[in-house]
Parts: sequence; C-alpha cells; structure tokens
Amino acid sequence: MKRERSSILETIPKTLPVIPTMDVVVFPHTIVPLLVLDEKIIKGINLALEQDNRMVLLLASKKQPSSLQGTIGTKDLYTFGTVATIMRLIKIPDGGIKILVQGQSKARVDEIKTDDDILMSHITVIDILRDTSRSEVAAHIKNLKHLVEKMSLSGRGLSPDFHAILSKMHDAEKIADFILSHLNLSVEKAQTLLEIEEFHEFLNELYIHLSKESELSDVQEHIKSQARDSMNQSQKEFYLREQLKVIKRELGEEDSDDIDQFRSKLAQLELTAEVRNEIQRQINRLEKTSPDSMEATVLRNHLDCMLSLPWGKETIDNLDLKHARAVLDADHYGMEEVKERILDFISIKIMKKDGYSPILCLYGPPGAGKTSLGISIAKSLGREYFRVSLGGVKDEAEIRGHRRTYVGAMPGRFIQGMRKVQSCNPVIIIDELDKIGADFRGDPSAAMLEVLDPQQNKTFYDNYLGIPFDLSKALFVATANSLESISEPLRDRMEIIELSSYTFEEKIQIAERHLIKKSIYDTGLDSQFIISPEVLYAIINNYTREAGVRELERILKKLCSKATRTFVEEHILPIFTAENIEKYLGPFRFTQEDHDPEHHVGICNGLAWTAVGGQMIKIEAIAMPGRGKLLLTGQLGSVMRESAQAALSYVRAHAQEFSIDPKMFSTHDLHIHVPAGGIPKDGPSAGVTMLTSILSAFTQRPIKSDYAMTGEINLRGNIMPIGGVKEKILAAKRNGVQHVMLPLKNKHDVVGLEKLLMGIELIWVGHANDVLHHVLLPSK
Ligand SMILES: Nc1ncnc2c1ncn2[C@@H]1O[C@H](COP(=O)(O)OP(=O)(O)O)[C@@H](O)[C@H]1O
Ligand SMILES: [Mg+2]
Repeated sequence: MKRERSSILETIPKTLPVIPTMDVVVFPHTIVPLLVLDEKIIKGINLALEQDNRMVLLLASKKQPSSLQGTIGTKDLYTFGTVATIMRLIKIPDGGIKILVQGQSKARVDEIKTDDDILMSHITVIDILRDTSRSEVAAHIKNLKHLVEKMSLSGRGLSPDFHAILSKMHDAEKIADFILSHLNLSVEKAQTLLEIEEFHEFLNELYIHLSKESELSDVQEHIKSQARDSMNQSQKEFYLREQLKVIKRELGEEDSDDIDQFRSKLAQLELTAEVRNEIQRQINRLEKTSPDSMEATVLRNHLDCMLSLPWGKETIDNLDLKHARAVLDADHYGMEEVKERILDFISIKIMKKDGYSPILCLYGPPGAGKTSLGISIAKSLGREYFRVSLGGVKDEAEIRGHRRTYVGAMPGRFIQGMRKVQSCNPVIIIDELDKIGADFRGDPSAAMLEVLDPQQNKTFYDNYLGIPFDLSKALFVATANSLESISEPLRDRMEIIELSSYTFEEKIQIAERHLIKKSIYDTGLDSQFIISPEVLYAIINNYTREAGVRELERILKKLCSKATRTFVEEHILPIFTAENIEKYLGPFRFTQEDHDPEHHVGICNGLAWTAVGGQMIKIEAIAMPGRGKLLLTGQLGSVMRESAQAALSYVRAHAQEFSIDPKMFSTHDLHIHVPAGGIPKDGPSAGVTMLTSILSAFTQRPIKSDYAMTGEINLRGNIMPIGGVKEKILAAKRNGVQHVMLPLKNKHDVVGLEKLLMGIELIWVGHANDVLHHVLLPSK
C-alpha cells in the first residue's frame, strides 16, 4: 500500500494550477465540493482537465469570506496546500462551475506565478509517511481510539456510531482522516494541522484537539445539566401545586386564587372611593407580578393588611351608667373623683351621640392604677381596647409605620392595634406618653400630635398602609407619670385627670379587696389561703415605700408563690406572720424608725414631688474653709440651683440677725448636696429646706429631725405656695415624720383630707423666720 501510494506521489507534476479555497482546508483523502466563479481559476481548472491526472493545488485563503473585498491576491494564500484530483465538474448557468475534488497529498509551494492568465504554482510534494516509526504510530492510534471510545460512551461530543465505525478501522491514515473530518476546526487551526509534515506529530496534534473538544463538551454538559436541574425544581413545584389544587378540589377545600379572594374581600368592604381605588390598583399590580417573586409576597402582605382593617366596623357602646359604675368599682378601690369624671364622660356620650371624644390623660405616680383604669374604661363601655406603650419609643416609624421600601416593613402600632381589635372605635391606651423620646429617626411626639388631633386623625396616614385610616372614632386614654416632659400642644389637647398616691389605709383596702385575691388566683392557691392584716401591714411598712401599689402587688405575689412552693413540696400551707415573712421575702428593706431620730447640723428633711410621687429628701449643707464658693451636687435642675442661690443670699443679707460673722462667707465654701439616687430633681419648692440647711451649717445649730418642710422662698424670706400637698404629706407619713411645715397659702389644699392628716401635725408658715424658729435647736 505504501508503495502504491508513493507511486501516486511520484506522478504529481511539479507545476500545477492553483485553486484558492475560501473557508475550508482540504486534507489528503477528503472529498470536497468547491464553487468557482473566477475566470482565471476556471481557466486553470480547464488546463488541469486537459491532463490525464486532472490535478490541481488547493490553497486556503487567509482572508475569510466575510472580510473579503474584491478578488484575493496571491499574497492572501497560504503557501502550504493540498494536491487534489478533480473528480467531477458541473457548469452552473451564470458562468461559474462546481467541482468535486479529492485531496491526494500535502505540498509546499515554492513559487506562484501567473502564466497566460492562469495562476500556476511550483511545488514540492510532502510525503508524510516518509520516515514514520510504526510502533509510534500504533501507540498514537491506540490513544486516539481510547479517547474516542470514552467520548462516545459518555455520549458527549461524539456519537456512539462514530466509535463503532472507528473501532473497525485499522489503517492509521484513514483513522486520522476520519477523526479529522469530525473535528470542528477553524481555517487557521486546520491549516496548522495541514502544515505538519511528520505523521506521528500530526497524530499527536489530533489527540490534543480531540481531548480539548472532549473537555469542552464536558463543561457544556455540566452547564446544561445545571440548567436542567433548576428547571426541574420549579417545574416540580408547579406540578405539585397543580396536584395540590386537584386534591383540594376533591376534598371540597378548594381555595380560590388569592387574587380572587382579595377581590371578593374588597367587594364586601365599605370604603371611600379613594381607598377602594388604591386597593384595586394594588390587586392589579399583584396580578401582573410573578406569584413566586419577592415583590408578590410584599404586595400580598400589604393587601392582607389593608383588607383586614376594621373599615367602618364599630362595636356598640354600652351606655348604661349603672353597669359602668359597677365595672369601675369592681376593678378599682377608691379613685372616686376619677370614676366620677369617667361617668360624666359616658353621660355626655349618651346625650350627644356624635360628639367628639375628649382625650383623657391619667396622670400620677407609678402603680397608681392608670393603665389598669384605662382597661376598665374600655370594659365599662363595652369597647375593645389596645395598648400602645410609648416608653422609650424614639423612632417615628413606630407610630407612623415604615415605608414599604424597607424589607420587613410594618405598619405603625396604631394600625397594628386596629387590625388586632377589629373595631374602629376601641379604647386606645397610650401608655407612658411622657416617656416618648426623640432622636435622628424623627420626632415621635409630632406624630403623636397628629394621632391625637381630631382634625387630622380622621385621615390618619400610615406610611406602610399608604391609604388614610380613620382613628377619630377611638377613645384615647393616655397615661403619664409627669406632665413636664409632655409638649405643650399635646398637653393642651388632653383632659387631665390626676391619680394621687395612696395612703397606708388605702393600700390596705386595695390589697385586701383586689391584690391579695389576684395574687392567690395567679399562683394557683385556693381561696382558703389567707394573708393576715398583720402580715399585710408588715409588708407595706417594711418592704415598700412607694406612692402606688405596684411593688406591694409584686411582694404579695412573691409571698403567694412561696406558699404554693411549700404546698407542692410539703403538702401543707404555711402560715405567715409578721415575724416569719423575712424568711420568705428576705430581710426588711425599710423599718418604721428609718429616719434618723438624731438632730444634725446642716441636714434638713425636705418634701418633694417627683415623677414617682411624693418623696422625703434630706438636704445636706456643709460650710468648709475656702473662698466663698457655692457648690451644688445631686442632679439639680436650674430652678433648684437658683433657689439655692436665693437662699444663700437671704442668709448673707440677714447674717447679723442670726449672729453669723459676715467674714465667714468669704473664708468658707458652701456645699449643698441633695441625695436620693440618680433621680433628677427640679422646682422651687425646696427653697425653704435649703435655707434651713444653709443657716444650720453657718450657725452650727442642729435641725430637728422629726420635722419635714416644703415651700418656695423669695429674697425677702416670704414663703410662697407649692404643688402636690397631699403627695408630700403622704411622703412624710411614709417616712414616719409627724411634723410637716407647709406654706400658709396652701391651707386650702388640705380641705377634705382630714383622714389623711391623722397623726400629723401641720405647721403653717408664711415667712422663713417662722420655720427657723420651729426647727433650729440652740447650738451645742
Ligand atoms: N385603686 C386600685 N384598686 C385596685 N387595684 C389597683 C388600684 N390601683 C392600682 N391597682 C393595681 O395595681 C397594679 C399596678 O397598676 P398599674 O395600672 O400598672 O399602674 P400605673 O399604670 O399607674 O403605673 C395593677 O395590678 C392595678 O390593678
Ligand atoms: Mg402603667
């Protein structure tokens, strides 16, 4: 075969007409059709046909047909090509010809020239088999066959048929040709392969190309299979959903499309045109979004929220005064004035059905029952209620809602509450209105103003909701410990009802009628369990010193839970006594004689009125060698600082009267300290107390410790009236101080407090000198 072959090679002439090929490189042994239009080339072909062997030289063009402009010159042709025989020729009507050629051998071009308008080439024929080692070729062929087998088995790149044919082939050249014909090679790459003159090297290159193709198809297959996987997932889900629908239909539980549900819900609601249009718009939007998208979830939640609000739904008020009275009495002891005002309010409701509701503000110390009274008001009217606690709320969005652009956006607390109670005329308890904060996230109190403004809350706008909602039917009950931190406009809008501190006797009543019962019930004890009055007294006196009853309730609950524990462990109920409760509740926190019975220099009992109710505060003053400076400590507000200065000026102005050496003021510093923790204190009512302390410090006369006082003083020493008289008397009582000095001008404040005043001596004072006269003892 080799000989036969080389004999063919020997018959190849040294000069041959050239046929340029445009987008194909023809290899030896391959048969390729070519279209020829160029006159010169056709002439060359005719010349070749005149010879016996009908041979031509095929040279690939470097230029690709797309970039072709005009005719190709000889410079554009590769100089290494294939000698081919023309097997057939067909003339086509418009002058061109179509030929079928078969490659015979590789050939290098030595020279190209044009003879008689024919492109001719001088060539050297290349015999690629001229020095091949058989074993090397065999090894290459084995590798190639192996790779082909692998590729066709995995179904990638090559068909199984390809392998079947190849496995039956034995001739190395044919195998190489067969593989070559199946490779997708660019002209450039094919040309490089063609130009390889050694057969084994050619086989090697083939192998490299083939394995590249194998890798490429591996990658393609991987990408395809990934795409297929993800497709399968959503198809599977779709399929399962469809099945679920069928199953539900079979079970008669078919829930129609959520969009239909939204529509039918919308149809049932009584809405303004504006609101209806907006909801309609959102439903339409939902319809257009893909049901599995994030956006659809957001839209659905929003629609859910809008459609589940109690549009126009109202509960009917129970306007029975007797019923209301009974509910209020059942829940709370005392509070006569407050209850009266609530009944007044209900009466107005009866007479004037459409009248706008006032905003009630219950104001008083912690544990006075403000929040629980708010709940009772709802009960007495037969309304739903919800509580919005503003303690520490700094973010305006808590009230007005988040914009829907946030992930996890929510409506504000008012809309949330409305949705929960399903009625648009609930009692809304705005708890701890005075504790509202403000920071960079907006001003929540401005938002509150809007909520509480009857002009604006008719169309309250929540950012999340995006449509106005009417809050004006609600009854607002706000609670606060102090009115100072509530902004003026907000305060103006409310009807303020004060809840005062409880006396010892009132606390006993509240505990016996309400708190003990509640604690027993809450801890699972039965009603046979009793807390004796003696134990109750001990608890109030030794564990609490508060204005309200919150701590008392807590301690009672603790005691009851101890009883429950004992019962569970030992099957008997313990009997508590004033002596043994320390074992259960820990050591007494206060004792009856807590106040120091000794009379000290510079220490004076003042009575203050703070956010936690009345408080007895010991004010301390001390004079020490220095240069006449005034030092004030204990978190004092500016008003209190000024009244300290006024007191000092008064003492300096009257130094002689009190036998103080005037030089002392320039040789001593004065330090006034107001203890009692970190509670910020302010107000003018400590003026008289500070004056007494200062005077005591400079004269070294002790102050009677069983006296407590309150009053503002001016520079002339006159004592001016103050607020919170009842609270202050209660504070003195709680602290076991019997003598209380009050400004003469406050005398009318104690009318009706006879019960409270039992055991207390009131001393009315109009001028600083009266006070000093009473409390300053002679110096030792
Ligand atoms: N006059 C009262 N009668 C019955 N229980 C009361 C009375 N005052 C307060 N309480 C109870 O004391 C507890 C604390 O009251 P709460 O309403 O939380 O106080 P506030 O909101 O004023 O701080 C509640 O359990 C409440 O029922
Ligand atoms: Mg409260």
